[in-house]
Amino acid sequence: MGETNMPQDKGLDHTLKLLHEGYHFIMNRSDKFHSRVFETHLLGEKTICMVGKEEAELFYDNTKFVRKQASPVRIQKTLLGVDGVQGLDGAAHHHRKAMFMSLMTQEGLTQVGVLVQEEWKQEIEQQSREKINVYQAAKRVLTKVALRWTGVPYQDDQIEKWADYLSDMFEDAGAVGLKHWQARRSRSKAENQLKELVEAVRREDIMVRQDSALYHIVWHRELDDELLDAQIAAVELLNLLRPIVAIAVYIDFVVLAIHDYPEEVGKLESEEAMEYFIQEVRRFYPFFPVAPARVKTNFDWKGYTFEEGTLTLLDLYGTNHDPAVWSNPKTFQPERFQSWKGSPFDFIPQGGGEFNIGHRCAGEWLTIEVLKVTLDFFVHHLSFAFPEQNLAYEMNDIPALPKSNVIISDVKFK
Ligand code: HEM
Repeated sequence: MGETNMPQDKGLDHTLKLLHEGYHFIMNRSDKFHSRVFETHLLGEKTICMVGKEEAELFYDNTKFVRKQASPVRIQKTLLGVDGVQGLDGAAHHHRKAMFMSLMTQEGLTQVGVLVQEEWKQEIEQQSREKINVYQAAKRVLTKVALRWTGVPYQDDQIEKWADYLSDMFEDAGAVGLKHWQARRSRSKAENQLKELVEAVRREDIMVRQDSALYHIVWHRELDDELLDAQIAAVELLNLLRPIVAIAVYIDFVVLAIHDYPEEVGKLESEEAMEYFIQEVRRFYPFFPVAPARVKTNFDWKGYTFEEGTLTLLDLYGTNHDPAVWSNPKTFQPERFQSWKGSPFDFIPQGGGEFNIGHRCAGEWLTIEVLKVTLDFFVHHLSFAFPEQNLAYEMNDIPALPKSNVIISDVKFK
């Protein structure tokens, strides 16, 4: 072994090209090599890249790939945290994942929807309605929703601080230099506070609702029947709080789509039409670029040799724009979801495969609920205008956000 039979990117390292080409890096090379699988070097390491539906099916086969040490340390120290569910495999993963999925009941989702509605109403009432920055407002709204839904106690004057900690972790996860360090600092401050909270709940200094996520995580028992280490409990609490706030990125794109596709907004009369619109926002706009894993043991697939231990990236954005699956992938067409068959491998903005036994995002249903309630609120309960602004976004910014963050003006309740 050692020699590859995959198409190979020439040159020593392509990290700079990745930074330059961003969301298009894998698709650009896949087109050039006429291959859905190729090999490159990123951050000094041999890396296999894959894009497409069949490739997603391969990637989510637990007999072929593992997650242990798949994410770079710099991403663990900012975005994900160390020793959380993302890096677990096998029985330990299934057991921890079940803890997350047990929170995603119909009741839990309905509850989150009610909170989102309440907090949007309050946010708009409290803001100067002349001009609202949708992304910043969504972060405040979702910070309150996240703390309330999980049962983490807070004072009103702590909201800005929580919003900053939680958003630094996903806004600056891929950053270098000062911003990277700021994201690390925000994570360690948030982890410390939550660790103290977990310990206080265990000492019964603080009482929490038994149906809350906080209660579930504090008293969750591992396969050896031990409670989670308080530090890891804090990491897993952040695995709920941080991504709930990150839905602000999609909310910004929902409102951008309202601006860019007014003819589609006119069709939002039914539940289905609202759902198709949300799904198309998640397919069309860039957010999470790739999912990482490592080859579990040597195997061959379609004539290619996968060597044990090799870092492998599945292109989520590229698979959502794959012309082999999506007709006119570069066009915003919510109705395409009318005939979508619901495959777990072709529409993967939040990862693919199965929720319980795989690493597919635990919060996908919650994300859809938050977006549906928010879309309904903006389209059916508010009227607003779009002032002059710069709505362009860059495909090598992660997350890519419109330059002006989407500003709405003359905001009124209908
Ligand atoms: C904001 C929109 C979101 C995006 C784009 C997103 C995306 C993702 C992606 C790409 C993964 C990794 C999939 C993989 O490794 O195969 C993931 C995993 C995860 N997400 Fe999300 N997510 C979002 C929202 C949420 C929310 C709202 C929650 C919780 C309330 C959440 C909780 C998780 C957890 C716990 C995992 C780890 C799952 C595992 O390793 O088994 N996410 N997410």
